[in-house]
Amino acid sequence: MKEKRVAVIAGASSGIGRATAIHLARIGYAVSICARRSELIHEIADSIHKEGGKAFALKADMTDWKEAQNFIKSTVKELGSIDVLFNNVGAGIRFADFEDLTIEEINEGIAVNLTSVLYGCKAVLPVMKSQKSGHIINTSSILGKRARSGFSIYTAGKHGVEGFSRSLYNEVKKYGIKVSILSPAMVNTDWARKAGFDNPTAKGKIIEPEDIALVVQHLIELPDHITIWNVDVMALSQTLNPL
Ligand SMILES: NC(=O)c1ccc[n+]([C@@H]2O[C@H](COP(=O)([O-])OP(=O)(O)OC[C@H]3O[C@@H](n4cnc5c(N)ncnc54)[C@H](OP(=O)(O)O)[C@@H]3O)[C@@H](O)[C@H]2O)c1
Repeated sequence: MKEKRVAVIAGASSGIGRATAIHLARIGYAVSICARRSELIHEIADSIHKEGGKAFALKADMTDWKEAQNFIKSTVKELGSIDVLFNNVGAGIRFADFEDLTIEEINEGIAVNLTSVLYGCKAVLPVMKSQKSGHIINTSSILGKRARSGFSIYTAGKHGVEGFSRSLYNEVKKYGIKVSILSPAMVNTDWARKAGFDNPTAKGKIIEPEDIALVVQHLIELPDHITIWNVDVMALSQTLNPL
């Protein structure tokens, strides 16, 4: 078992990020969390403190380079190092045909799903390089490998996350830094509701955010010399045809 260290979760005010922050804190990690909804991340940090855990919360929009960089720098100042960066920011924007999206929605969709990940990585790499260790996990989606009409920009952003992460993996492993892609199928969060997407095919027990937290724990607790660079998570109730 590895020594418990510092885990940063970008996009932690709800859903997968929130569940992962709470889980990692409960098993002994110091966690640093950000999102735009300041009150929610501070509530999460308070509840972690009440349970005896260590947490640092900072409001940050990860699509803004200065805020992303400040979040990472402030984390190092508060917690001393960064062993894990879980780049989990993302949103479906609006379920609609590409032609019906506004230019603002297109730009926002790429910023929130791809640029946020690029900025998180850019900000954390100097820290991890100087430590000669670190693990970056970038949240993609099944739509990072496949496509669904009505989610063209989300699909483009997540395909971008996958391609970028593969390049980065090869660039930074020589510094002892791991890069993993985490691609879940539908998870029981507010994500679909926010995008105005009512999924009529979801039947049975789907993935819970707490399930993803367990996957993240598994990834970051592997021995230093190996990694799982790509993980697709499905519930047994979910079917992808063709897989
Ligand atoms: N739910 C699914 O079915 C599913 C499936 C595959 C992949 N994913 C991916 O999983 C990740 C987490 O989604 P979720 O399902 O847990 O949905 P969620 O509850 O909506 O979580 C999204 C998180 O990202 C944060 N966020 C959004 N824009 C941000 C920004 N500009 N800067 C900082 N934080 C920002 C949100 O906080 P604020 O709004 O407070 O900023 C929230 O904490 C996303 O990348 C999503 O694409 C979800």
